[in-house]
Amino acid sequence: MAMNEGDQTVPTYVKLKEHESGLEVHFPDGFTQSDFNSALSYRAKDSDVFVCSYPKTGTTWLQNIVWLILHNGEEIPGKLRGFIPMLEFDGREHTESIDDTEFPRIIKTHFSHMFVPKNPKAKYLYITRNPKDAFVSYYFHVKGFSKLYKADEVEISTLLRLYMKGEVEHNSYFNHVNEWYAHRNDPNAIFLLYEDMKQDTRNVILKIAKFLGDKYEETLMLENGKLLEKIVKLSSFSHMKSKTIWHNNKRPHDLPFIRKGTTGDWKNHLTPEQAAALDNALAEYGKESGICHLWDRFNLL
Ligand code: A3P
Repeated sequence: MAMNEGDQTVPTYVKLKEHESGLEVHFPDGFTQSDFNSALSYRAKDSDVFVCSYPKTGTTWLQNIVWLILHNGEEIPGKLRGFIPMLEFDGREHTESIDDTEFPRIIKTHFSHMFVPKNPKAKYLYITRNPKDAFVSYYFHVKGFSKLYKADEVEISTLLRLYMKGEVEHNSYFNHVNEWYAHRNDPNAIFLLYEDMKQDTRNVILKIAKFLGDKYEETLMLENGKLLEKIVKLSSFSHMKSKTIWHNNKRPHDLPFIRKGTTGDWKNHLTPEQAAALDNALAEYGKESGICHLWDRFNLL
């Protein structure tokens, strides 16, 4: 049954507590305090590679690219979550059970920086995307995963109100990006933009490979960049859309998970006022950190 805010359908979330800080985090209904505690107790290994993000900013795309680079262009051989655990969903034990004898373990998480298990030798990739496209993508995400959110009828204006207040999973987009941006120059971190990946996928793949280790970048460039070209193809929107490995739930045919994959789709879904609300929030909450300028070089207005 859908929850209602007045007479509006809203997604159902639970608030779970991180005990050290006392902070509460929104999760989709069904997550439990023991799932959260378990994920927080995971101890990062030196060889771990974390793919981190706020929801709907290109996480799946980045996971696929990282996997392909680390596995010499061999595709993920089954459902994604069987090979790349989602820390807060799968918990410590399952994450630990992922074999890392031959290849480093890749771990996906939407945790804010403060909750991510830290290890100075592990690697942390963070991807983000302009808030208007991230929000629109989230709107279709909520509608598509109707069993999880029970809000397939949610109005975009209702969801935006929650999004602006940070009352959606992983709380505020703006806080999340601000926190991770402060760590963009950490020696074991890389901060990526979805829009750069769209504009110049090849170059970003090379940058990611270099971050993962010089040997990966060198291998990509062997034989005139044969492996690089293969990874560009296997991580393209059309190729990823043709596969059904990205999630385990059923979605309606007209709400695919690999949905549109463009920059600027918000223009088709937000009113000028809704777009301005997100622009203004970015200007206000991103001023001190500087994230308000991250998308200046892309024509997003
Ligand atoms: P849209 O809903 O705007 O299409 P996440 O993986 O963090 O949930 O992000 C999902 C978004 O990334 C969706 O955006 C999805 O279509 C997009 N995406 C996934 N694979 C992509 C690819 N290869 N190229 C471009 N966008 C991709």
